[in-house]
Amino acid sequence: MVEIIKGLQDVIALETHISYIDGENGILRYRGIDINDLVNLPYDSVSYLLLKGSLPDVTELATFSKKLKDERVINENLIQAIRTCNFNIEAMDALRTVVSHMSHCDPDLNDNSHDANIRKSTKLISRFPTIVASFSRIKNGYEPLMPDTNLSHGANFLYMLNGEKPEKTVTEIMEKDFILIAEHELNASTFSTRITASTLSDLYSAIISGLGTLKGPLHGGARMAVMNMLDEVDSSDDAEQYVMDLIENHQKIMGFGHRVYKTYDPRSNIYKGLAKKLAEEKSDTTLYEIAERIENTVIRELVEKRNKPIYPNADFYSGVIYKYLGLHPKLATSVFAIGRVSGWIAHCLEQYSDNKLIRPRARSV
Ligand code: SDX
Repeated sequence: MVEIIKGLQDVIALETHISYIDGENGILRYRGIDINDLVNLPYDSVSYLLLKGSLPDVTELATFSKKLKDERVINENLIQAIRTCNFNIEAMDALRTVVSHMSHCDPDLNDNSHDANIRKSTKLISRFPTIVASFSRIKNGYEPLMPDTNLSHGANFLYMLNGEKPEKTVTEIMEKDFILIAEHELNASTFSTRITASTLSDLYSAIISGLGTLKGPLHGGARMAVMNMLDEVDSSDDAEQYVMDLIENHQKIMGFGHRVYKTYDPRSNIYKGLAKKLAEEKSDTTLYEIAERIENTVIRELVEKRNKPIYPNADFYSGVIYKYLGLHPKLATSVFAIGRVSGWIAHCLEQYSDNKLIRPRARSV
């Protein structure tokens, strides 16, 4: 009788060349390069690395970035699709809907050749920011803005969202956020994209599977939950009691814990430094101090006292950063998706290149 592992915990489902995680020592590498090095590159370089397997040289990066920038614009059909959305939904629901509309208009839709998939990849990576920003503006009564091809991926997103060019620190932090969240081995949403790709369904359908999976609060939806949690805490003294009450009521603290990391998520350490930098630049450290007090209380109560490896994950301090950036909580998961779409695509291309239908068994009881 084969043992059933609930949630496929620690089950090795496949081999990948794309990333490596050491959960015991808190190590993350994309294509062999450590996340602490990758985070200092442009997002376009990291996307290129994930899709093609090596970092681009200067010419390759310029060509790749130009292709992405040239594809940022979404047509009037997609703007119209956004205008018909219910504006009470999360941006993730709008993104999922509009990506579906995008697929209807793409002549490459059902062409799974590598070249067609690269063409679709460029459209997906470059248009996610445009779709999310356009939804946010239309929902708030503004007209969507045309993308600015002079701006980086992160800067252009913030420009299209807020209507003004972001300053240097904010731009750097947005780029780093997209890099930190771009890829993470076989997390739930990546696994769902691979399952869809393994049926030889099209790349749009695989990405839409990923969007639906990422939305959940146990996964990418945690960022929104962290932002909402921070709204409930008025001071760092309140933070301590807030966490104690959650623990007392056996409720999970959002932004903490991880299926793989049993120590600090290396991304969280980077996010924490970025949150501190942003707080100090804005001369408003209250929110950061509340977050740090939440972290210290969780570490003291769960790690030190109860020996549970519940550390901050990638969604805790990123939630703090999003609040400092003035992002609405209902945008949080879609901003996560803007970064993650490159990793999803890399995994789909890897699945298509050496495919076997993913179809486990269930034991009838
Ligand atoms: C992401 O997989 C990835 O790589 C995901 C991700 C990526 O880049 O794609 O890293 C992004 O999704 C990060 C995770 C975001 N989710 C959250 O922050 C939600 C809160 N975290 C938990 O729901 C939880 O930690 C999970 C879902 C992340 C992991 O859960 P597991 O591995 O299924 O573990 P579990 O729920 O069975 O918990 C084991 C124990 C339990 O206690 P006991 O029943 O054994 O006494 O740890 C406790 C849990 O109660 N626990 C927590 C906790 N997380 C786990 N207790 C308090 N607060 C928490 N956050």
